[in-house]
Amino acid sequence: MLDKEVGGRAPRAKDGGQTPRVDGPPLADTPEARGLTPTSTTIRFTVNGEPVAVSTDPFASLANTLRDRLGLTGTKIGCDAGDCGACTVLIDGRQACACLTSTGQAEGAEICTVEGSGPDGLTERLRRAFLAHGAAQCGICTPGMLMAAVDCLSRTQAPTRAEVEDALGGVLCRCTGYIKIVEAVLEVAGGVRPCGSDPRAQQRSERGVRPAGSDPFVGARLARVDGWAKVTGADKFGADEAPDGALHMRVVRSPHARATFALGDLDAVVARTPGLAAILTHRDIPGENSFGVFAHTRDQPVLAECHVRFRGEAVLALVGTREAVEALSDADLPVTWTVETPLIGVETAVAPGAPAVHAGKPDNVLAQGFLQCGDVDAARPAAAAIAEGRFETAFVEHAYIEPEAGYAQLCGDKVEVACCTQAPYMDREETARVLGVEPAKVRIKPTACGGGFGGKLDVSVQPLLAVAAQVTGKPVRIVYTRTESMASTTKRHPAKLWARACADAQGRLVSYELEGDFNTGAYASWGPTVAGRVPVHGSGPYKVPNVRNRARAIYTNETPAGAFRGFGVPQAAIAHETLLDDLAGQLSLDRWHIRRINAIGNGDTTPSGQRIDHSAGLPQCLDSLKADWDAALHRVAAFNDSCESAGGRRRRGVGIGCMWYGCGNTSVANPSTMRVTLGRDGRLTFYNGAVDIGQGSSTVLLQIAADALGLAPERFDMVVGDTDLTFDAGKTSASRQTYVSGNAARLAGADLRAKILMLANAGSNAALSLDGTRLTIADGEASRTVDLATLPADAQGMVLEGLGTWDPPATALDAHGQGSPYGTYGFAAQMAEVEVDMRLGTVKVLSIVAAHDVGRAVNPALTEGQIHGGIAQGLGLALMEEYLPGRTENLHDYLIPTVGDMPDIKIHLIEDAEPTGPFGAKGVGEPALIATPPAILGAIRHATGVTVRQVPVLPHRLWAALRGARPLAQTDRQKSDVGGEGSDPAPREGAS
Ligand code: FES
Ligand code: FES
Repeated sequence: MLDKEVGGRAPRAKDGGQTPRVDGPPLADTPEARGLTPTSTTIRFTVNGEPVAVSTDPFASLANTLRDRLGLTGTKIGCDAGDCGACTVLIDGRQACACLTSTGQAEGAEICTVEGSGPDGLTERLRRAFLAHGAAQCGICTPGMLMAAVDCLSRTQAPTRAEVEDALGGVLCRCTGYIKIVEAVLEVAGGVRPCGSDPRAQQRSERGVRPAGSDPFVGARLARVDGWAKVTGADKFGADEAPDGALHMRVVRSPHARATFALGDLDAVVARTPGLAAILTHRDIPGENSFGVFAHTRDQPVLAECHVRFRGEAVLALVGTREAVEALSDADLPVTWTVETPLIGVETAVAPGAPAVHAGKPDNVLAQGFLQCGDVDAARPAAAAIAEGRFETAFVEHAYIEPEAGYAQLCGDKVEVACCTQAPYMDREETARVLGVEPAKVRIKPTACGGGFGGKLDVSVQPLLAVAAQVTGKPVRIVYTRTESMASTTKRHPAKLWARACADAQGRLVSYELEGDFNTGAYASWGPTVAGRVPVHGSGPYKVPNVRNRARAIYTNETPAGAFRGFGVPQAAIAHETLLDDLAGQLSLDRWHIRRINAIGNGDTTPSGQRIDHSAGLPQCLDSLKADWDAALHRVAAFNDSCESAGGRRRRGVGIGCMWYGCGNTSVANPSTMRVTLGRDGRLTFYNGAVDIGQGSSTVLLQIAADALGLAPERFDMVVGDTDLTFDAGKTSASRQTYVSGNAARLAGADLRAKILMLANAGSNAALSLDGTRLTIADGEASRTVDLATLPADAQGMVLEGLGTWDPPATALDAHGQGSPYGTYGFAAQMAEVEVDMRLGTVKVLSIVAAHDVGRAVNPALTEGQIHGGIAQGLGLALMEEYLPGRTENLHDYLIPTVGDMPDIKIHLIEDAEPTGPFGAKGVGEPALIATPPAILGAIRHATGVTVRQVPVLPHRLWAALRGARPLAQTDRQKSDVGGEGSDPAPREGAS
């Protein structure tokens, strides 16, 4: 029996009521503010069959009791408000949110968590199925999903897909698109053993010998190497552990979007508050009080200095016991505010006379990007068709289920920071600058990362934790609340775009122009990257001889916008794909056809002047969709005819979107270095600095390294992301890890292989095998065995090492955006079929068919998972996601797709091998999302006649537009726009 000490603790602050305005109340909430007074009592229940008695505040949430008092951190907390389902456990056999259940309510109950085996071993069977299907990506939702699935299968013997989806409906997943989760549950429901029913055993099977000249691991659907920890709840995320005695930190944030402030006597607050160790201000920052992505744009203070630029900006940090920092209300702190009128929206920020957000940028323009080729003005008059329009997109929240969290502690003369991150080396640099020390004095130890999607590229908790640990001399931890996470971290840039496309009579693009303003919010973050990437990609994956694209990143007093899966390219894709549909309509061309005749292919030249004489599989992607496209057109026509004749209110449509995306950072060096060592004990260790944020890089890079070396993946130990132990692999972003770090892993494996072969004087096709410390090199008839234990080793016991460094071939862009900004590009074409309720303005996406050129699918299961997840996020961007500061700062008001929102998805993997890629591979992370929104918008237009130029297409927006447009036959469309100006007739299909 576990019987924990008495020690009542107040429940964690929950998301408070949201106030629908930019200036709002304090972002913190406290037990006292909610009238709660902690008391303790002993509560008895069973957990996974074990009786426990816990002395605690009966109002403490069951989630906190399980995690903090019983050490069962497999139960995750994503929102603490009943919205995300990450905390789902079984209470007397029924799924329930442990964050909404008081510990007192659990008295006498049987609690089942992810750590248990579940009724009849159901959890165990589901675990294996999840692994075999690739149903866990980052894994933060996985415990909740497993518990919901156990609930479903223990009550329903042979559930339908709808029943499974219903059971999982309360658990949000931001990574997977739910498809593989549902498949895994259905497989267990059907009693079918998942292929390779024990994926660990599957990996450890007969793969110890590498057949010469083959690549057996690249291309295999291996279960993810970090998967078992995710499906057992053993994986440690940022909030899951901290050193004993760690103090807690709570950040006090600005309730105003633009204000100056003065601080009163904070020492007096510390003196009168038991348990409060310190209140940190900007004066406590020992080094530079700033952070950012680029050396010239480090404009965000760690703690504001008398002036705040957005609601949610960090002003103070309270450090002390958890009770102390949570009990102290923001209203108790002596901060005097002088509120100023904020700049909201890019038009306000660039209007004449607008005040500057930053002193050095009087026009509020952070950065501009430009690309020009040919002469658009000369080409336009001869065009047979001209389409133009304005487009608008919203702030989009990453909504990873794991809020930012971590801890810092002093270790000798170093500060060690453990946190969820996408960029450990950048964290190290920024933290060291803030501390005023050399980077070598900071160690970043990435925890498991519960989703990132670009949002965990910028530092968040890291510098403040380090400062707090240094000031107090004690370990300090922090877990952002959901509201705090959403209010203070970066978003997708809202964009206002104008674009014009011209085509000849055959539909061939002759020119394209784009002007885009991207709202970068109060601080620079990745604004320069967006401004640079958009002009390159702005005209889409098409052959266009005359292009003039310009993009600006503009400061406002809104939440900083940063990196989010695509760096502005998804916004630009909405414009170019809508205009392509417009042109098709004007020229009576099929929408598939106009894309096919314009698609960039091998040997073509991009608008930046880069000749693509390597992988360019868009034509193949489109060809793979053609049969689906034709069938869908006939299907929706038949549906609409029958619906119309029956007086129905539903109409269906089909749309298509294409995309391209340069893999890696734009026009700059972004190398990666990997290391593989062989020890005297026969252990191989893969030192991999690329953080796996759920996409599967740890598995994919290991597959590549294993193939290059010629020994099986299960022989390797993994060290991932630790800045003291691994080399810099660059950031996990820009779809670069498979392509860039994959090459580094390939080179490291090959380097070690070459050294091993040299030991035996063996030829390059020799086969390696490892049995304990005995390494055998078989070269044809000859075979030599080396006992590694007899070889000289370094202090760590290493006898041989392989190193690999690779930097993608990219060149700088000139003033006209000419050059080769990327080593390669990912391409995709997706089609969507939707059903619109013409009375309500609601849209249901019925199906997506996605064709992606990935060069080589190193692990097809993981590749498919990336595409599923990208489609889910694209669907959210198109139809439901709109972050409004002060209004949608929680997962109740900010909606992301649930399992019930997901369409059927069919994937065509196109493998147009990239010569510079590892085994031909390219990236797929961002490409997975970009084509989805325009495909959905095209389908809505096809169904309704309404041209949508503003996302998200919320029901009230479409409803209003439909009131101005009668539902028309597919060949007789009426002009109508949502959120934009001007429209052209919708295309007639079947012309090709
Ligand atoms: S943590 Fe309980 S529902 Fe989100
Ligand atoms: S795997 Fe579901 S949130 Fe990441």
